[in-house]
Amino acid sequence: MSNLETYLAAQNAQPAVADIITTITKVGIQISDLLKRGALADILGEAGNQNVQGEEQKKLDVIANDLLLDALSSNPHCAGVASEELDNATPANQDGDVLVLFDPLDGSSNIDINMAVGTIFSILPYNNQGHPATDEDFLQKGTAQLASGYILYGTSTVMSITLGNGVAMFSLDPDTKAFVQIKDQVQISADTKEYAINASNYRYWLPPMQRYIDEFTAGKTGVRGKDFNMRWVAAMVGDIHRILCRGGIFSYPFDTKHPDKPGKLRLMYEANPMSLLIEQAGGMSTDAVNRILDIEPTSIHQRVPVVLGAKNEVEYVKKLHEEV
Ligand code: F6P
Repeated sequence: MSNLETYLAAQNAQPAVADIITTITKVGIQISDLLKRGALADILGEAGNQNVQGEEQKKLDVIANDLLLDALSSNPHCAGVASEELDNATPANQDGDVLVLFDPLDGSSNIDINMAVGTIFSILPYNNQGHPATDEDFLQKGTAQLASGYILYGTSTVMSITLGNGVAMFSLDPDTKAFVQIKDQVQISADTKEYAINASNYRYWLPPMQRYIDEFTAGKTGVRGKDFNMRWVAAMVGDIHRILCRGGIFSYPFDTKHPDKPGKLRLMYEANPMSLLIEQAGGMSTDAVNRILDIEPTSIHQRVPVVLGAKNEVEYVKKLHEEV
C-alpha cells in the first residue's frame, strides 16, 4: 500500500501544501507517542491557565500547540499560524505561501479519561507576501482552503485529508512511523440511521432541532418509521471519523445556553476543515440552513452552529428550519 508521500505526489499537491502536511504529520507522530505514554509522560491534567475562549487548558493542549507552532514556524512555506490556543495569529515567514489554522488537541476533555482526541488543520493561501501575517489575512471563506484534515489518536492513529479532490485516509504504522494509505475517495451515504448530538442541551435548542431529534427518538413509532442509533464521542474528530467510515449525521446546533455564543464549534479551525472533508466525501455541511464553507469569517475564533454528514438528513434539517 502507498504511503502519504506517494499519495501527495500522485495528487500533484502544491509543494507548499505537501510540505506543510508532512510537517503536521511529524508533530502528529510526536503527539501520538505522548498520548500512548499518558500519565507516564506527565501530560495529563490542567495546565493552570485559560485559552482565549475562557476554557481551562489541559497540559497536552499546551504541549500540542507548542509542538505545532514550533514546527510550522520553521517551515519556510508557512506565512503564519492561528490556533484555538492562541489569542491572535502568529506570523511566521512573510515570504511563505500558506497560512495554517489548527485545533492542536480537539476533544481535550477526553485526554484524562484515555479516550479519543485529535488534531484538526486547515491550510489557506497567503495573499499578502512580503508583509507579516495578521488576523485579517486568515479571514477567508472555507471555500478558499487548499487542504484540510485531521489526525485521530484513537485505538490506532489515523488521518484523513483532502486536497480538494476527494478524501483519503491513512493509518500510522507504529513500527516504521509512516502514514500508510488505507482508503481513497471515501464516500458518505446520503441516508443514515445514526446521529451524534449532545442531547443534554435539548432544552436550549430551537424548535426545529428539537422536532428533528424527537422524530429520531420516536423511531419506528414516529413519522420516520424506523429506529435510529445515537453516538457521541465528545471529540468532533472522533464523530467525523465515524461518519467518514460508516455514515451518519453530526450536529452541534445553535443553542441559547450561552446567548453570546451562537454555537460551540469554531468556524475556522473546526467547522471549515471538517466541512471540506465532508463535502469532498459527498456529504453536506451547514449551520442548519447555510453552507458552512460560504460563511464570510469575521474573527479567527468565531463560533458557528454545525449540522453535517449524510446529505438527505442535512437537507431535511434545513427544510425544518426554513419551514418556521
Ligand atoms: O471543540 C469542541 C468539542 O470538544 C468538540 O470536539 C466536541 O464535539 C464538543 O466540543 C463536545 O462538546 P460537549 O462537551 O458538549 O460534549
